[in-house]
Amino acid sequence: MKNSIRLAVIICTAIIFVSANIAMAQKAGGAWTIPAKYKSMKSTIKAGDASINTVGKDTYMKHCKSCHGAKGLGDGTKSASLKTLVPSFADKAFKAKADGEIYYMTMVGRDEMPNFEKKIASEGDRWALIYYIKSL
Ligand code: HEC
Repeated sequence: MKNSIRLAVIICTAIIFVSANIAMAQKAGGAWTIPAKYKSMKSTIKAGDASINTVGKDTYMKHCKSCHGAKGLGDGTKSASLKTLVPSFADKAFKAKADGEIYYMTMVGRDEMPNFEKKIASEGDRWALIYYIKSL
């Protein structure tokens, strides 16, 4: 009898431990579905435009750093409390993305990645920000 109680306690402890770990583990967001009209989008500013390191950087520090981190590595102060893993902008997979795809992910977002269409209204500011994160 004592043994079965001990066994039950061990099993319960194991279940609690495993489920707590599952609840805390972050999941990668997986592939995005980008609408065609975004995929083919072209920037309204040129690569190397002066606004990238001024407007683009300032916008990033104000709206994005808290989750994405100062260098875009996905290590911002809020990142650990999210359910979704914050991807790194230094990754090859990110660097390979088309401008329009980055535009959609940044402006429209999904789930824990917020929508910024209202907060960043100017088209030029949006592209300065996108080129800034591409430079990280
Ligand atoms: C509240 C936290 C948070 C803030 C603030 C935030 N992001 Fe994100 N971002 C995320 C998360 C989480 C993901 C992953 C979402 C997913 O895959 O579903 C993500 C994904 C992205 C992606 C897709 C990257 C990839 O490789 O898949 C881009 C681009 C992006 N964010 C840009 C930005 C920009 C630019 C800003 C600021 C204007 C910003 N984010 C602000 C949390 C945030």
